[in-house]
Amino acid sequence: MTVWGAAAVDEVVSGGAGVVHVGTRDVVTPLARERARELGVEIVVGTPAPAPAVVSLPPVPAPTRSLPDPAAVSARLGNAPRRVGPPSGALYRRGAPVARSSARVPGHAERVGRVVVVGAGNVGMIAAMRLADADVFDEVVLVDIDEGRAAGIALDLTHTAALSGFTTRIRGVGTIEEAGRADYVVLTAGKPRTPGMSRSDLIATNAAIVGDVASRLARTSPDAVIVVVTNPLDEMTQHAWTSSGFPSQRVVGMAGVLDTARFQALASLAGAGPADGVAAFALGSHGEEMVIPLSQATAGGRPILERVGPADLDAAVDRARGSGAEVVGLLRSGSAFMAPGTSAARMVLAMVADRGEVMPAAVLADGSYGIRDVYVGLPARLGRRGVQGIVELDLRPAELAALREAADRIRERLGALAPT
Ligand code: NAI
Ligand code: 2OP
Repeated sequence: MTVWGAAAVDEVVSGGAGVVHVGTRDVVTPLARERARELGVEIVVGTPAPAPAVVSLPPVPAPTRSLPDPAAVSARLGNAPRRVGPPSGALYRRGAPVARSSARVPGHAERVGRVVVVGAGNVGMIAAMRLADADVFDEVVLVDIDEGRAAGIALDLTHTAALSGFTTRIRGVGTIEEAGRADYVVLTAGKPRTPGMSRSDLIATNAAIVGDVASRLARTSPDAVIVVVTNPLDEMTQHAWTSSGFPSQRVVGMAGVLDTARFQALASLAGAGPADGVAAFALGSHGEEMVIPLSQATAGGRPILERVGPADLDAAVDRARGSGAEVVGLLRSGSAFMAPGTSAARMVLAMVADRGEVMPAAVLADGSYGIRDVYVGLPARLGRRGVQGIVELDLRPAELAALREAADRIRERLGALAPT
């Protein structure tokens, strides 16, 4: 059985087909039907399903669900038309084609190897679950200084193998060294926020943890790609980069995918239509200086302002910016973990899929947007070996100024990390 989402329909149509053939046992989502209607193609049931190479593509958003002008972005990418946009919600649907297709990574016949999740706390637990569910790795290893917790979650997760239908092995250990050589690392070790705390309040405590973990990873897994999650995100990503000595392409921070997902959900609640039909990029910092350029945001393939008024959209942006604190306030202990863990796994799986998906991520600025030598949230093209490049969107002057301001603030906060 294949679950057909809107992105799969787009892939077939972009390949020149005028009809989408689905199998009799396949599931066609409402969004896929809507997308087929928009494109003027028929969905025909009962004929042989298309070749797996077509139906199994990852759920990269369709052009009309991503940026207003994908051609312009493609031109910047410097190659054939390429999908650019935020993550699709289709990734984790059981039976969705993406999970299996992700296993078909060039150079890897079936499996990708090992992903190590450092920190088996709330975020690490969800990330590990998503990564195991995707069933593309030989092994998911959870590492925590609380070894019993890592081992307990690993065993608990192993017990879901039949329920979720994966064959990935899961281990829980107490040290990076015991985890073994990783292909990908999700770094969540550290302290979360408590009510009233800002992410920056965590900087000194978490810098010690992240610095130690990153330098040990450099010894045990010299070729790994590290996805940093620990807060304060932008500063900790830069710190992991310097501590590991890795090329910047292999150290990337997760925040933009989460902040974008929050905006997508909130815009949907404000009347923009289904959340996965909203496309946007949350850039800048993971915090007060988060920037969502509304000039780039779309809903159902149209400028989002056609569906939601500016005041409601501004409110959605503000609430997305404050969503982390909002969840902290409700939980009273710990911070958000469902969407964060899912977002981190989503980035790793995009890299494994190696299709050059563009996602908002904390990356080392290379002069694009007039920003250089600091980690900040920018649209990044992701591939198997990490960041392939930064994509420059055509931002309005105020949006560009806000992005540069975010980079300046991050740089200032990094000053607090510099040796005195
Ligand atoms: P948590 O407290 O549930 O888990 C953290 C885990 O790290 C604990 O189990 C702890 O024992 C472990 N740990 C601490 N030092 C370690 C070390 N040296 N080696 C291995 N494990 C170690 O916290 P949670 O909720 O999982 O959050 C983790 C981090 O992620 C926090 O810094 C939080 O602020 C951040 N975060 C970032 C988000 C983002 O968008 N970038 C979103 C949500 C959380
Ligand atoms: C969040 O945004 C706390 O950074 C964490 O939920």
